[in-house]
Amino acid sequence: MAICNVSDRVTAVGASDPDLAYFDRLMPTPYGTTYNSYLVVGDERTALIDPVQLDCVDQLLAHLAEAGVRRIDDILCLHAEQDHSGSIKVLTDRFPQARLVATAKTAELYETHLHIPRDHFHIVAEGEVLNLGGIGLECMPIPFAHWPDNTMFWLAEGDILFSSDLFGSHYAPTDFERPDPDLHLEEARAYYAEIMMPTRNQVARHVERVATLDPSVICSAHGPVWFDASRVIECYLEMLSPAVKPRVVMPLVSMHESTERMANVFVDALREEGIEVSVHRLDDAVRDLRDSMGKTVEDAVDAAAVILGVPTVLGGPHPSSAAMALMLNTFKPKNRYVGLIGSYGWGTQVEKRLYELMPLYRAERLDSLLVKGLPTSEDEAAIRAYARDLAAKIRALD
Ligand code: FEO
Repeated sequence: MAICNVSDRVTAVGASDPDLAYFDRLMPTPYGTTYNSYLVVGDERTALIDPVQLDCVDQLLAHLAEAGVRRIDDILCLHAEQDHSGSIKVLTDRFPQARLVATAKTAELYETHLHIPRDHFHIVAEGEVLNLGGIGLECMPIPFAHWPDNTMFWLAEGDILFSSDLFGSHYAPTDFERPDPDLHLEEARAYYAEIMMPTRNQVARHVERVATLDPSVICSAHGPVWFDASRVIECYLEMLSPAVKPRVVMPLVSMHESTERMANVFVDALREEGIEVSVHRLDDAVRDLRDSMGKTVEDAVDAAAVILGVPTVLGGPHPSSAAMALMLNTFKPKNRYVGLIGSYGWGTQVEKRLYELMPLYRAERLDSLLVKGLPTSEDEAAIRAYARDLAAKIRALD
C-alpha cells in the first residue's frame, strides 16, 4: 500500500494486510484489510489519526518517512480496539513529543487494553475542535459503532469525515487510490453485517447525523477512502431501514440427505412462488465454517426470512446449525421471520434447543417442520404448503 493524497491537508499513511483471512478470527476477509492512518497537516500542528495494528507498524513508519514527517504534535486515538491502537507505544517512542488525544471513553479503554494510563491523554469531548492552525478537527463520538468509544473527527476544510470503523470495508486493493468501486461497496456491506449490524439502532442515529453533515469524503479506518461519500451513506441508509427484500436465506446442514431432500422441496416450492432463496451449506467438507456462516449473515442483512435446515443430533441441533444460531443471535439481522425444517431419527428437541441459543434474534418464529426419517410424499406436500404459507407472508409485507 502506497501513501495516498486525500486533500492538500490530508494524506493516508496506513498499512495493508492483503493476506488476512479472518478478522477477529471470525469474519472472512477474502480481500484482506487495511489499517488506515491519516496525517492531517495544519499551519501550526501536525496530527496523526490512529495508530495501526502492531504487526503493521513498519508500514506506517515507512509511509511517514516517505511523507517527510519529522514531527507529530497530536496522535488522535479514535478507537481502542487493537487493530487501531496496537502500535501506540512504538509511535510514542518514535515521536515522544506527540500529545495523545482521545475522548474519555477511548482513554479509559486504552488503559484497559493497552495499559496506557488515561492521564497520559489530552481528553476531548463532543463538539470540541482541535485547532491545528488554519484548520480544525471537530470531535464527534459515535458510541457503539461498534465499541463504546468509537469517535469520528470532522475536518470542515474539504468536508472530510474521519469515521473510525463506521463505513469501513475489509478490502485491501492492489491500488489503494483506485479500488474496484463495486467490490468496495460489496465489502462495505459485508463489513456492516458483521461489525455494525449488531448495534444497528445506535448506528442508524450516527448515520442519520452523517447524512445531514453531507461529507464529500469519508476516511474510514478500514478499506479505501470514499471519495464519493454519498454512495456508502445511501447504502447504509438502505441497510438500516426497516424494509426487507422478498428473499429467504437458508443455512443448511444435512447428515444423511433427509434434511437436504426437505430443503430441495422447500426451495423449489418457494421459487415457484416467485421468492428468491439462497442456500448456504454449513456442512461442506472443505470450506471453513466461518466462511459459510459469514456469507449467511451477510446475505441475511435485508432478507425477509431465515429458514434453517437442521438435522437432529442426539436430540438437539447439529453443532454447525447451533453455531449458526449463535451467529444470528450475535449479529441480529432485521429479518421478519425465522423458521426451521429438518429430519430426526427417533425423537427431537431441536426446536427448543435451537431457539434457546438465539434469545436476542427478534424475528417472528414460524412453526417448525420436523420429519421423522426420510420424508414421505405426504411430508413433501406439507413442505410445499409451508413454503406457500411463507411466500404469502412475505408478499404481505409489501
Ligand atoms: Fe477496526 Fe473496532 O476495530
